[in-house]
Amino acid sequence: MICIFLFLCLITVTKLEDPCFTTKLIDDWRRSVANAAITGVCDNFLEEGWYRVISCAGELMPTECPIGGYRCGTTSPFWLSSNNVTGSLYPHNGNTVNRTTCRATFSGNCCDQTIDIRIKDCGCYYVYYLKHTTGCYSAYCFGDQLPCPDGLTSSTGFTPGCVNSSCSGIGKLKEARPIRCYWSILNEKRKKKEFSTFCLPLWYLLVSLIG
Ligand SMILES: *[C@@H]1O[C@H](CO)[C@@H](O)[C@H](O)[C@H]1NC(C)=O
Ligand SMILES: *[C@@H]1O[C@H](CO)[C@@H](O)[C@H](O)[C@H]1NC(C)=O
Ligand SMILES: *[C@@H]1O[C@H](CO)[C@@H](O)[C@H](O)[C@H]1NC(C)=O
Repeated sequence: MICIFLFLCLITVTKLEDPCFTTKLIDDWRRSVANAAITGVCDNFLEEGWYRVISCAGELMPTECPIGGYRCGTTSPFWLSSNNVTGSLYPHNGNTVNRTTCRATFSGNCCDQTIDIRIKDCGCYYVYYLKHTTGCYSAYCFGDQLPCPDGLTSSTGFTPGCVNSSCSGIGKLKEARPIRCYWSILNEKRKKKEFSTFCLPLWYLLVSLIG
């Protein structure tokens, strides 16, 4: 019986240690490569670890150099380099890959510094193993869209597909996080809860039956 119990524990631990279940989130649309307004995003103090990106501006690290910097809400943005990479930059089928990010500077250098990161495919999303940058303002880019301009709106509140809404006031909500984003976070929380409230008692029951 102890054997079975240990085995099930091992499965649980493995599941929780999977980087796909990370609780570290990066949630900041200002990191979009389309954002050319400098707003002081800095990853100097970013805690090393696996991160999931949640943003209606997009959740992928851009793969083209933001030439001249001053993008992604920072002075010197880091982007995903395809140098020395054969095949696809992003992993498939639950795989993890090692990749290099490059820092783009205001002087036009696209890779004056590199930071090695890891990317894991989690099916519907990716997680990124990130280390802190050195010095402000320097940060990782994520996404390539922007909030809808004043007076326009879309289902996410972000480009593309912003349309003129006749309802006055809707444009003012654009800074608030769109419902779709809340939904995806709630959904994650629900899944985790189901995992512990449904699966664990079932296992205990199984163990006590067999034992
Ligand atoms: C690619 O590999 C070369 C030679 O090993 C190295 O000097 C360069 O920094 C690498 N570039 C990137 C972006 O990793
Ligand atoms: C990827 O990086 C990790 C951590 O730095 C290292 O342990 C691993 O060997 C690397 N894998 C490959 C294929 O280079
Ligand atoms: C949206 O439509 C209204 C009424 O048709 C118009 O007055 C307004 O200028 C439009 N706003 C934008 C941002 O296009």
